[in-house]
Amino acid sequence: MLSYQQEAFGTTGDGAPIQLYTLSNANGVQVAISDYGGIVTRLLVPGRDGNLEDVVLGYDSLSDYLRASPYFGAIVGRYGNRIAKGRFTLDGVEYRLATNNGPNHLHGGLQGFDKVVWDAEPYRAADEVGLRLGYVSEDGEEGYPGRLAVTITYALTNRNELRIEYRAETDKPTVVNLTHHSYFNLAGHASGDILGHELMINADRFTPVDEGLIPTGELRDVTGTPLDFRTATAIGARIDDDYEQLRFAGGYDHNWVLNDYDGSLRLVARAHEPTSGRVMEVYTTEPGMQFYSGNFLDGSNVGKGGVPYQHRTGFCLETQHFPDSPNHPEFPSTVLRPGEVYESTTIYRFSVR
Ligand code: BGC
Repeated sequence: MLSYQQEAFGTTGDGAPIQLYTLSNANGVQVAISDYGGIVTRLLVPGRDGNLEDVVLGYDSLSDYLRASPYFGAIVGRYGNRIAKGRFTLDGVEYRLATNNGPNHLHGGLQGFDKVVWDAEPYRAADEVGLRLGYVSEDGEEGYPGRLAVTITYALTNRNELRIEYRAETDKPTVVNLTHHSYFNLAGHASGDILGHELMINADRFTPVDEGLIPTGELRDVTGTPLDFRTATAIGARIDDDYEQLRFAGGYDHNWVLNDYDGSLRLVARAHEPTSGRVMEVYTTEPGMQFYSGNFLDGSNVGKGGVPYQHRTGFCLETQHFPDSPNHPEFPSTVLRPGEVYESTTIYRFSVR
């Protein structure tokens, strides 16, 4: 049966009470989402044998999220991924953003949407249960122009889909690029590395980066490179190949230029974990997707059940516009103007094989 539950999840440093909402569908799939950062803390999905496992990395308590989290399960904004040197020019005005990743701006800055408290309202509909989150980012927050009103809807359907709808409006021209940052491990969050997952990405090209992981502007054909995932391939099969792009990122941490971008939903990726049989398909309206293979995990984040998350024990599939688009007029635009509505949808659909 579709249901939701709400429980207290602690308080922030400022004393704001934080809630955890658990949504369940008719098949026992369960997702827990916090109004702190819109963080998905738990996602229980059945395997081939019917066993439910928690397939996302995360922490047991709010205090761990407050202390240090590499964006585990969070909503990322205003701008997912990097903006070079934290600078961009819009309508002739230069804006300066916080630099929180070497010389660059990453995932919205020092206090991005992963670290704010959202208004939250659970709902139940005919075939899904969900959580509506709202946040108003004030003009100038983290250096961005415009007062941005954001709504995120998480929905869990009876087709075993986690659907995320993003919506935003501004009162001044600005840039927006929202995404979701779950680290998946389809064998279970505590099961070790993700290198055996077979991954398909429907993309003929990717955006190569420099040493700072900023796109050079090139759209490179994946043919003959370790970034060709058009045919499902184990994540670990080529991850340590002697290829400059893999060396720069310490593995996969790139934006793929997804095929058939016209703003409508289409299948862009499929991950399959052979031992459990779990399959996750990704559908999105976005032009790009960051596939990050958890290269910066090193055991220092001790997660749920006391499990230290070691190197490459989770992977992210972050649907998005391309990194650093505000400095690349040739990329699909991330500019949002007053009167326009930013809308984006992504679905993570779970099944077994
Ligand atoms: C980025 C990585 C970054 C990670 C944050 C990913 O989206 O692409 O470079 O280290 O987020 O932990």
